[in-house]
Amino acid sequence: MTATRLVKISPIRTVINVVAKRLAGRESVGEASRVEGFDAAQSFQGDTAEHNDDRPRGDEAETLALLSEFAPGRALELTIGSGRIALPIASAGIRVDGIELSPDMISGLQRRAADLEVTVGALEGDMTTIHTGKRYPLVFLIFNTIFNLLTQDNQIRCFENAAHHLDPDGVFLIETDVPSAWTSAYSYVNAENITPTSVELDVCKYDPITQIFDENHVRLDAAGAHFRPISCRLAWPAELDLMARLAGLRLRTLGWLEARTLLRRQQAPRLDLRPVAATERCCASK
Ligand SMILES: C[S@@+](CC[C@H](N)C(=O)[O-])C[C@H]1O[C@@H](n2cnc3c(N)ncnc32)[C@H](O)[C@@H]1O
Repeated sequence: MTATRLVKISPIRTVINVVAKRLAGRESVGEASRVEGFDAAQSFQGDTAEHNDDRPRGDEAETLALLSEFAPGRALELTIGSGRIALPIASAGIRVDGIELSPDMISGLQRRAADLEVTVGALEGDMTTIHTGKRYPLVFLIFNTIFNLLTQDNQIRCFENAAHHLDPDGVFLIETDVPSAWTSAYSYVNAENITPTSVELDVCKYDPITQIFDENHVRLDAAGAHFRPISCRLAWPAELDLMARLAGLRLRTLGWLEARTLLRRQQAPRLDLRPVAATERCCASK
């Protein structure tokens, strides 16, 4: 893999970039500061897909309990990955379909589903545009994955696509960290793992104007330097709520605050910084 370079953009310059893009008739803003050369479609392939679920996140039981409350029999997961959550849900008797960009993730999902003798539907494509042709009582998007969409426009499109898939009284459930959990400074290095013969570092930079968070996970060992870059566009709960409203959804069953309380009640202290919002379809036209 070739070395990547973090792009340096001052806030003033970013504003100028945004204005220039708007004048030029471009739709999307916020792409300017992503890790140069980073391609989201490639970042969940190969080894990453192969080992995606080797180290579970630790919130699987709580997530399952919460999702089961909203999924009477059927659900759609946007970005189903290799089935960390979808497979246990399917094993509990809920029919799960998934949308997923990475063919390697889908292969892993299908292999694991066959081992468990459960059926999970997976459609390869982009969560902002692709349709399964069905509607569901529950659509969910968890593990910060809305942040993988690098523009506000695409994040809104994702809410619209979720709304498109909902039954008239269906619920879209989305879970993210709050951005401050990731952005202790605009630029920092976190020593994630240190051994006598290797170090693993998270090299991070955050642009508060575009809300783009660039990270390169760097491993240095005897074989050299290994890079795993990723860019995300962070969004606060309030912005996500507005996106939901733009997509014709309304917060009803569970707001960010109530969800935090609920998750605390389920004694999942790690989840304190991970709000969940359930939004309900309210417009017949969507
Ligand atoms: C962190 S993993 C989460 C997987 C799964 N939702 C989970 O909770 O374990 C992120 C997944 O999102 C997928 N992804 C990223 N951008 C996508 C997009 N625009 N459309 C569909 N899938 C996408 C990646 O390929 C990857 O499998």
